[in-house]
Amino acid sequence: MSSKRVERLEVGKHSQNTLDNLLHEERIHAPSGEFAAQANATSELYAQADADREAFWADQARHLHWDTEWEQVLDWSGAPFAKWFVGGKLNVAYNCVDRHVEAGNGDRVAIHWEGEPGDSRAITYAELAREVSRTANALASLGVGAGDRVAIYLPMLPEAVYSMLACARLGALHSVVFGGFSSEALRTRINDAQAKVVITADGQYRRGKAMPLKTNVDEAVAATPSVEHVLVVQRTKTDVEWNDGRDQWWHDVVEGRPASHTPEFFDSEHPLFILYTSGTTGRPKGILHTSGGYLTQAAYTHRTVFDLKPETDVYWCTADIGWVTGHTYIVYGPLANGATQVIYEGTPNTPHEGRHWDIVQKYGVTLYYTAPTTIRTFMKWGAEIPARYDLSTLRVLGSVGEPINPEAWMWYREHIGGNRAPIVDTWWQTETGAIMISPLPGVTATKPGSAQVPLPGIAAKVVDESGEQVGHGGGGLLVLDQPWPAMLRGIWGDDDRYRETYWSKFADKGYYFAGDGAKYDDDGDIWLLGRVDDVMNVSGHRISTTEVESALVSHPTVAEAAVVGASDPTTGQGIVAFVILRGGADDQASGEAAIKALRDHVAHEIGPIAKPRQIMVVPELPKTRSGKIMRRLLRDVAENREIGDVSTLADSSVMNLISAGFATSS
Ligand code: WT7
Repeated sequence: MSSKRVERLEVGKHSQNTLDNLLHEERIHAPSGEFAAQANATSELYAQADADREAFWADQARHLHWDTEWEQVLDWSGAPFAKWFVGGKLNVAYNCVDRHVEAGNGDRVAIHWEGEPGDSRAITYAELAREVSRTANALASLGVGAGDRVAIYLPMLPEAVYSMLACARLGALHSVVFGGFSSEALRTRINDAQAKVVITADGQYRRGKAMPLKTNVDEAVAATPSVEHVLVVQRTKTDVEWNDGRDQWWHDVVEGRPASHTPEFFDSEHPLFILYTSGTTGRPKGILHTSGGYLTQAAYTHRTVFDLKPETDVYWCTADIGWVTGHTYIVYGPLANGATQVIYEGTPNTPHEGRHWDIVQKYGVTLYYTAPTTIRTFMKWGAEIPARYDLSTLRVLGSVGEPINPEAWMWYREHIGGNRAPIVDTWWQTETGAIMISPLPGVTATKPGSAQVPLPGIAAKVVDESGEQVGHGGGGLLVLDQPWPAMLRGIWGDDDRYRETYWSKFADKGYYFAGDGAKYDDDGDIWLLGRVDDVMNVSGHRISTTEVESALVSHPTVAEAAVVGASDPTTGQGIVAFVILRGGADDQASGEAAIKALRDHVAHEIGPIAKPRQIMVVPELPKTRSGKIMRRLLRDVAENREIGDVSTLADSSVMNLISAGFATSS
């Protein structure tokens, strides 16, 4: 953390009566001299960006190929609708593919694709250029042009990448829908975006089995008048129903096409994609991203946060392409930077719990980016599994998606990173498009559980309800107080909802409200505390579910924990915890005494105020297919209500087990 940043905070001004277990983290890991000496990032970047933000971003944009240079870096006159690199023209796909071939790197592997059943393919940049061109030619023959929308509902196949880049090349917007979503969810998204073409596969491999996929599309497109064509990749050779006028095989339409395609250059603000994300209520929001600013920040953050050296690194982001992490850190960032990366089709325990480490060893992965929920799953499976593999190539580890509890961070550092690789805890959102808050490897001394500092060029702060910045040790809400290049440009078809959702809370200040609670520690580092809707209020004290979960998980018997605030007649809300015990711990730990020990442990870690009212030992937690714990459902259980909609759960039977257990224990 640069000392300059610390001074700028108004120390102690609004310091609240917050819990301070996170304020005294002492396990700080300074970068090694060896890493720092070769790092892409330097501490001067902060000073450069502070001196002239727009000049700084212009420098980052110059890493891309522009057909026409911009006239103005930022036009914020129509706030909150930003324009970046005004007047500039570029082709996003040309930047991600062709220019690397033209620079003589056509033989470099772009994608080491690893299928779940064990098949694999290495795709060079030259081959990627041919495949993207063929796909673009095929889509054009189906009538897709600039401004049209294409829905992509595919497993983690190379064709997903070809499809996204082919859209970008034609100036069409893709709307990728996660392959784990239902036909209903797909239909809503197709209709909202009025997509003309849907790209899917016959089936997908999941935990060693071929599961049908096209059937969902058939159901969805029965009521999507905008869809003219369905393009089907053959992956599992699963039997499919066929609609002759509408359906076409990928191999029939794409494979015979010319392998070259001349890209058109589009305005910097030309729309690139729509990606739906669920709010706390209401229908999903179509988050809109555009071209020049998005690609600039995607490439810059990928280069500096992961310290990418395109000639030697092998990068692997384990996200699915259906989420923003897959968009920015599988497709656009890494490919814009000419990286070599791994894309893995399947689940981490197929065919065994060491699959990820097997892949790291096989390809010599150097940069690995995953989610805390995955890390905690690995913890549950045991450290002896990664210990069987050679993980010595790993040199940067990333985390994204939710606050990472310090114990999981330490486990990641020790058992995956060999106490050597720096960990970057990256905070961002679908809406921000790219990483916003993160340590820089080789520069920042890292701290378990904290995303720490806004990146050079990014402005973020923690404020109270009235928008005033809080001091060291103070908690409040995270806001972004300056526009950034990869910011969303709106919600598809709903400008009012865009203003209302993100810009109305601090309208007088012009701040973007992220929806996250956060606080500064004594050093001025930022800790994310989860969505504000997951923050509990117990007897007037603000307690984050994350803090209590962290405390529980730091107990040796606990593998995973989810905490909710349940309404309580005396205290406003009471804390209810659901815990999964570590393998072998069940016997000793499920009794009354063990639960008392856990409550005391939380009281010890945070304070008596944070003691859970109830703790329940459960076999599993309700998670969405992207791994987020659905606290809403746990709150239903804790408040003795009928359980709400479970359709987005990865495994809907989990709730039956939990509520049955809760009825007998309470
Ligand atoms: C929300 C955004 C960013 C891609 C994946 C999720 C939470 C994300 C962190 C982090 C603490 C984090 C926030 C944010 N979040 N990363 N490093 N530390 N919280 O994208 O589905 O749009 O969710 O995820 O609550 O608001 P998303």
